[in-house]
Amino acid sequence: MRASTRIRRPFLWIPLILSFCASIAAVQLADGVVAPQRASAQAGGEEGSRLFRAKCASCHGPDGRGHTKQGEKMAIPDMTQAAWHTAHTDAQIRTSINNGLDREKNGTRQKMAAFRTKLRPEQVNQLIALIRGFRH
Ligand code: HEC
Repeated sequence: MRASTRIRRPFLWIPLILSFCASIAAVQLADGVVAPQRASAQAGGEEGSRLFRAKCASCHGPDGRGHTKQGEKMAIPDMTQAAWHTAHTDAQIRTSINNGLDREKNGTRQKMAAFRTKLRPEQVNQLIALIRGFRH
């Protein structure tokens, strides 16, 4: 009786050990293959892209190109262009997001709300990182 239970027991563990190994392999695959792609596509993090889609994309477009109705009406520039990035410092971008703007460029009225009271400073930083990530 004792001898037979000793023999059978190890076989009970085999499926458990196999499924444990499979789950470890799955986690490693997910970490190694999926995570870096998401990280590089998401400068500014999930929060930054969520904020941008909610508060900025209606004018600037989800990809920052400004290809929207408002973007065309107000001649909003393409934020994927290297020239745009070299022309704007982080400090300038932060000031514009916080204070908004209301100006005229080549006869076109350009208006953007101030987000100072709507966004926390770290959220503004996340948006700046996201915008920098638009650069091609
Ligand atoms: C109502 C439309 C509108 C919305 C919404 C909007 N913007 Fe703008 N934004 C503009 C316009 C118009 C300009 C001026 C275009 C230009 O730079 O010539 C502008 C300019 C900018 C600039 C460049 C500022 C500069 O100093 O030249 C940044 C950076 C920017 N927006 C970020 C954001 C972010 C981040 C959000 C969301 C939190 C946002 N915008 C929401 C309309 C909008």
